[in-house]
Amino acid sequence: MKAFVTGAGGYIGLDLIKGLLDGGHEVRGLARNPARLHNLTDLGVEAVLGDIRHPETISGLLDGMDVIFHLAGTMVGNERNIYRTNVEGTRTLVDAAAAAGLKTFVLASSGTVYGEHGDEPVTEESDCHPVMAYGRSKLEAERIVMNEAKVGFSGVICRLGGVYGPRSQMLMLENAGRTQVRLVGRGHNWMSAIHVEDASAALLAAAERGRSGEIYNIVDNEPVQLKDFYNYLAYRLGAPEAKHISEATARRLARIVGFFGRLTGKAVVFNADFVKMILSSLRLSNEKMRRELGVELKYPNYRSGIDAILQELGVGAAV
Ligand SMILES: NC(=O)c1ccc[n+]([C@@H]2O[C@H](COP(=O)([O-])OP(=O)(O)OC[C@H]3O[C@@H](n4cnc5c(N)ncnc54)[C@H](OP(=O)(O)O)[C@@H]3O)[C@@H](O)[C@H]2O)c1
Repeated sequence: MKAFVTGAGGYIGLDLIKGLLDGGHEVRGLARNPARLHNLTDLGVEAVLGDIRHPETISGLLDGMDVIFHLAGTMVGNERNIYRTNVEGTRTLVDAAAAAGLKTFVLASSGTVYGEHGDEPVTEESDCHPVMAYGRSKLEAERIVMNEAKVGFSGVICRLGGVYGPRSQMLMLENAGRTQVRLVGRGHNWMSAIHVEDASAALLAAAERGRSGEIYNIVDNEPVQLKDFYNYLAYRLGAPEAKHISEATARRLARIVGFFGRLTGKAVVFNADFVKMILSSLRLSNEKMRRELGVELKYPNYRSGIDAILQELGVGAAV
């Protein structure tokens, strides 16, 4: 296939591109930041520059492609900024993909669209009540792709859980190695994660075997309580177990960080919404992903994923 990848220079984008190239596919990658173009050209990929908030920069870039993997997105900034990228940017790409006659549109959405679900297992049929601007924007982006999928290309929605891997922010390896990880609250809330290699394989499978208008949760087999994920990581690194900070302290800190963000005009990640996200609880089922997309997970749970990463990086104690 000829694949157009947005967010090509991002964490998942680069991994997905490697998978596409290994599978013999042709790739054209969209980067926004010229300084990151070499990441793509070094891989031997055709790299193009554009900003999805500005439709004129996207015009013509999708011509000749079969499939788009739309990964460009942000969770940083205020609601307006997030919507401009995640919602209006998706609208721009949907229009461009329809105009260029693409066959398939794969959207990298997020499990955050479900919002808070406590201990209950969450399937693609579960209710969506996103608790943060990012989740709301992803849900809106999904609707845009779904609507076009009724009349134009095949649209497939991938709701990714927390994606971790070597150099991922989620693993916080630098922090975890040196100091104690700080968890907000007791860490009893559930998270559904997936290793980046498996996430990339699932996105590819979604393009090849996903049904139009369908949603797939993209997570591993084993939801995990936050404390268990980070304590396992600490154990494997020989580091102290995660420390806890209270929810009230985290909220206060987020207000202060947000205040300085507004003062300096800098977009900050650690804001009130971010605290809501790390406190929410989600046990996503991947049954549909395995059944319909036929994804065979290389890392079926967080332990196997973390072990492989530490081994690859040559850090941590042997198990
Ligand atoms: N990582 C996760 O745990 C996770 C979980 C659920 C869903 N997702 C979704 O999966 C996708 C990829 O995530 P990721 O972790 O790879 O994120 P990432 O590393 O932050 O990469 C995001 C990419 O989007 C690009 N981008 C942002 N705004 C853009 C714009 N206006 N125009 C063009 N490109 C733009 C960035 O380009 P520049 O670098 O040039 O700025 C970057 O390459 C995102 O849509 C994210 O919401 C990720």
